[in-house]
Amino acid sequence: MSWTLPLAERVRNLKPSPTLAVDTKAKTLKAQGVDIINLSAGEPDFDTPEHIKEAAIKAIRDGFTKYTPVGGIPELKEAIAAKIEQDYKLTYRSEQIMVSTGGKQVLYNVAQAILDPGDEVIIPVPYWVSYPAMVELAGGKVRFLPSDPDKNFALDLMALGSMLTSGTKAIILNSPSNPTGAVYSRDDLKTVADLAVEHNFVVITDDIYDQIRFGNEGPENIASVAPEAQDHVVVVNGVSKTYAMTGWRIGYLAGPKAVVKAATKIQSQSTSNPNSIAQKATLAALTGPQDGVLKMKQAFFERKNYIMERLRAIPGISCVEPKGAFYVFPDLSSYYGKEASGQKINDSLDMADYLLEKAQIAGVPGVAFGDNRFMRFSYATDLSIIQEGMDRLSAALSNLK
Ligand SMILES: Cc1ncc(COP(=O)(O)O)c(C=O)c1O
Repeated sequence: MSWTLPLAERVRNLKPSPTLAVDTKAKTLKAQGVDIINLSAGEPDFDTPEHIKEAAIKAIRDGFTKYTPVGGIPELKEAIAAKIEQDYKLTYRSEQIMVSTGGKQVLYNVAQAILDPGDEVIIPVPYWVSYPAMVELAGGKVRFLPSDPDKNFALDLMALGSMLTSGTKAIILNSPSNPTGAVYSRDDLKTVADLAVEHNFVVITDDIYDQIRFGNEGPENIASVAPEAQDHVVVVNGVSKTYAMTGWRIGYLAGPKAVVKAATKIQSQSTSNPNSIAQKATLAALTGPQDGVLKMKQAFFERKNYIMERLRAIPGISCVEPKGAFYVFPDLSSYYGKEASGQKINDSLDMADYLLEKAQIAGVPGVAFGDNRFMRFSYATDLSIIQEGMDRLSAALSNLK
């Protein structure tokens, strides 16, 4: 008789990351020879700059291939502190920094470090797919804070104020946002900072897209806008998006010493240090020439303009203009209830399936980000691919009756 190994309660309700699932499906179809336009990936299409790769090769040649301190090598922590000082005018000492295996692991460790069962965490919707799962894995309780596309997905401060309870432990902010590309205003960040100080909750600011902002102003987060609240702020960042280093898996945390110590303790009992070679590569990324970053940003800006122009020309679509990151998040819900060749579209999952099967375009259904009206398309890909994707999208939608 076969035996079914019993799995933990915590994993039974856990869904795999939907963005990674769509990307895997698209890549599998592509490998089978299907002509897929993949607009699902959350990674720059550019290659990691050469001087960063060279630093990694040198690290290998130098034998820098052993365990490092759990929270990262001292010179990298210093470089991170210097980068934050330069970009945000915020000072962090070395013991306030931790290096991890991607921003994702930083967020996971922070959730484990600060949440007790039942602690409430406020997550603005639309949200990055992994926030709710990470909170729940740590035993926390998610409280969703809806936002309105007609107000450019701004934080609803009235609603936020009324959601706060004695159990509120944290809020997670992501600006520029994945999936909307929205950037929070300074005034709104200042108000959240005041609330955090008054009600004693933590603000986790996920700054992973901070270098990909299309306005003239530089990177900004809640602590740089309201330095008096710095003790309440946990900064999460990494090199994946800025330096086209998704595969290297380096992220970092800057925050109160106690949080960093706790998160590092968790790291010491789980993954240990992040990859030694990738740490050297990251050091080169942060301290070396930044012209590659500017070039990539300029390319994302041009692609954003192009994809917005194309989306605006498709009847029934509305889309908030992104101010950063590399995604568009159009509302396709006016096509719900319609059908083509017997296939009826009821929600974003149906829409994603329809587009993948009938038009070979891979995008991520909005439900993965907490709002079924939308789909997310990434423009971190070549303009010619975006062009073909928009041609196909337009044709596929016009077939729906
Ligand atoms: C909003 C957001 N935060 C964090 C991450 C984590 O990135 P990484 O683990 O590659 O540093 C991602 C990646 O998709 C993201 O979009």
